[in-house]
Amino acid sequence: LADRSSVTLRAVVPDDVEVFFQNQLDPEGGEMAAFGVRGRAAHFAHWDKILADETNIVRTIESDGAVAGNVVSWLDGDKRLVGYWIGKSFWGRGIATSALASLLAEIEVRPLYAYVATHNVGSIRVLEKCGFVPTGPPEPAPDAAPGVEELLMRLQR
Ligand SMILES: CC(C)(COP(=O)(O)OP(=O)(O)OC[C@H]1O[C@@H](n2cnc3c(N)ncnc32)[C@H](O)[C@@H]1OP(=O)(O)O)[C@@H](O)C(=O)NCCC(=O)NCCS
Repeated sequence: LADRSSVTLRAVVPDDVEVFFQNQLDPEGGEMAAFGVRGRAAHFAHWDKILADETNIVRTIESDGAVAGNVVSWLDGDKRLVGYWIGKSFWGRGIATSALASLLAEIEVRPLYAYVATHNVGSIRVLEKCGFVPTGPPEPAPDAAPGVEELLMRLQR
């Protein structure tokens, strides 16, 4: 597992958004997240919106000084959600778990929520390790391909 101290969060700078673009181009990551790939223009427009919204909490994840991915929290109606994306070359080193734990220490709001596809066993494990539990049975994922189900997971305290 990654040494926790080697994983740090910082504000997003413009060059990071290019790395996030490359990360989300990876079909395996997209399949895990059940997200469609965004083209370059759509990706940068999406990130302009994310960064302009002051209700969002947005961090770049660094591992030993390299940009490993991002971890984000946003409002969806009355729920505050969290999400994250790690570049494939950084997978399997405890980085998502460490980064999410760090974000949870920064955010006082509870409960927090996350939607995760039921086939995304790695992400479900990350959430469980950080204390999230399913709020109910899997439900069809409205923004994903037909047949994909997702869990809504909650961190109570
Ligand atoms: C899912 C994802 C965040 C995992 O990141 P990561 O840094 O590799 O995760 P960690 O190293 O912190 O792993 C945490 C746990 O999950 C397990 N895990 C991680 N990826 C896994 C996989 N693909 N299959 C099975 N288990 C996996 C690890 O073994 C570890 O469990 P353990 O401590 O019990 O051994 C990363 O693969 C990713 O960003 N994927 C694409 C985007 C995505 O799915 N985002 C989340 C949307 S909800």
